[in-house]
Amino acid sequence: MAYKYIVTSALPYVNYELHLGHFAGCLLPADVYSRFLKQKGEKCVYVCGTDEYGTPSTIEAEKEGIPVEELVRKNHEKQLQAVKGFNLDLDIFSGTSLAGEEHVKTVQEMYERMKANNYIYKKEIEQLYCPKCERFLPDRYIQGTCPYCGGKARGDQCEECNKVLDPTEIQEPKCIVCGTTPEIRKTEHAFFELSKLEDQLKEWVENNKHWPANARNTALAWIKQGLRDRDITRNMSWGVPVPDLPGQVFYVWFDAPIGYITFTKQIDRENWWHDANTRIVHFLGKDNIPFHTIMFPAMLMADGTYTLPYQVVAQEYLNYSGGKFSKSARRGLFALDVLELLPADYWRYYIISVLPTSHDTDFTWEDFQQKINSELNDTLGNFVHRTLIFTKKFLENRIPGPEGLTPEDEQVIADAEAAFRKAEELLYNIRLKEALDRVMEIARIGNRYLTREEPWKNKDRMAPVVHTCLRLVKMLGIALDPFIPESAGRIREWIGVDTKEWDKALEPIKAGTQVGEFKPLFSKLDNKKIEELRRKVEGGDENVIEYSDFEKLDLRIARVESAEKVQGADKLLKLDLDLGEEKRTVVAGIAPYYSPEEIVGKKIVYLKNLKPRKLRGIESQGMILAAEDEEGRVALLTVDREIGLGAKVE
Ligand code: 2FM
Ligand code: ZN
Repeated sequence: MAYKYIVTSALPYVNYELHLGHFAGCLLPADVYSRFLKQKGEKCVYVCGTDEYGTPSTIEAEKEGIPVEELVRKNHEKQLQAVKGFNLDLDIFSGTSLAGEEHVKTVQEMYERMKANNYIYKKEIEQLYCPKCERFLPDRYIQGTCPYCGGKARGDQCEECNKVLDPTEIQEPKCIVCGTTPEIRKTEHAFFELSKLEDQLKEWVENNKHWPANARNTALAWIKQGLRDRDITRNMSWGVPVPDLPGQVFYVWFDAPIGYITFTKQIDRENWWHDANTRIVHFLGKDNIPFHTIMFPAMLMADGTYTLPYQVVAQEYLNYSGGKFSKSARRGLFALDVLELLPADYWRYYIISVLPTSHDTDFTWEDFQQKINSELNDTLGNFVHRTLIFTKKFLENRIPGPEGLTPEDEQVIADAEAAFRKAEELLYNIRLKEALDRVMEIARIGNRYLTREEPWKNKDRMAPVVHTCLRLVKMLGIALDPFIPESAGRIREWIGVDTKEWDKALEPIKAGTQVGEFKPLFSKLDNKKIEELRRKVEGGDENVIEYSDFEKLDLRIARVESAEKVQGADKLLKLDLDLGEEKRTVVAGIAPYYSPEEIVGKKIVYLKNLKPRKLRGIESQGMILAAEDEEGRVALLTVDREIGLGAKVE
């Protein structure tokens, strides 16, 4: 019985900007695997989309001073461009809020079934409530002092000792929006009775002997610690509403994996989820293992109508030369940026060839250069190019027939076929890095053969040798498609192969076919080019500006005359500024750090000639300058002695 495959990639939070770490972690491996399955003619869909609900999005939206829906749309669009740019062959790239009612329905129906099956109960819990904002505070909206080390604690974790905290135990807690001391209030939440499924989960994980070690071991270690029931609802409005708890939404980690089901529905394959012959294959980063090996399967068990995941493929991290990717620190390779530097296939090839399957891996420019030059260019590019050049130069650009093939030539084809079959087996087993290596072996076999045969010295051998090589080129044109689809497509086009069906790769090549216009597949990256790329990514000299650039800024000293909170915008203050000769109004996102009273009277630095923009209906004319450190502390720029209002900052 043939299987159906639902391949998923962990839904990236919509507030992220996608970087190579995300592509290495799950997006690209899932793409390679599902492309291969489709080439094999398997029934397969690859689904993904953005994870849009919960505090990750609301906090970012507040930081940017825009409504959360706008943030979601804007960032989703960017991520979509990145996945398209990397040529991901997704059947859908949706989003949990963008999917609208469809997602709400899927989540709520699942909750109802879990409830009907007695896996949901309600319990009163104590939570921090801000009387001024009139709302319960999500964990990340509380800051204060850690009861253990006295360090700064935010929400459910101390930023200094990293201890996980119950927000109610934080000392001197403050609402990050308005600075008010919150009070403890009782609120009823829904709990998922995970503890009841402990034995069933344990047995299931133990029986999943085909899982990779990192996923299985992490899951077993979690189960060993004992599974506690989980609070699955939150008092906030940005999320999927909980049908029987007004004013609450589901915790983002509850609705996100259900997104896989919603998105499959959107492409009319919902029934696959209910089919025991479906293999659900999750790709994710290692931090997501517990949610995909325990929480989500447990939810599916409690629901009872869905099939359980078959495979959980978790990658370790790809770091940028020793550190995590970080946009604010300008460290790392962001998807849309790197696509402007080199075609997607360079990055795809590199990522798969260093895939962090068993340990964290560093991206280094030296390694990148070496892989591109010696493997992609010298091994693959040169083999294909030499073969086509010989066809053009010595054989009137036509594919020669198999006449005159010697047993040695046949052996070369047989060796390449063996590598091809091995790659196929490895791809089925999701050992992608090794599979790519086997595919590259075909090119290595070809190069060794050409070097050995030297057909340019023996013109009688030219046709059989080129025929043999073209058989290998055809295999490459098909077997490389999951990894570097653009280049693979080009190869097939040049030699007139109009299918990428996997099993057609070993069929003989059509003699007499005219070879199309071709050019080198890749180019080498010399040291100068690598330096240039590194500089572009890291900023480097490009960060240096001319004095004339600075001069464009009309910076002035202004006094804050009055300040007030902006209705309906937690972070914004409206300030009236006195510049001596004139007055201006600005809207600034500093409400979490300054109360109106403490800011009035301050002499601050003001950027006068910034294009005005409307924030919450108020025209903000220019901006005031403030500094922010890594810990999120904010301070305004002021002057250190008396100076006239409107004075120019130079
Ligand atoms: O870690 C993350 O980026 C999460 N947004 C992953 C969610 S995966 C899922 F949907 F289950
Ligand atoms: Zn508040």
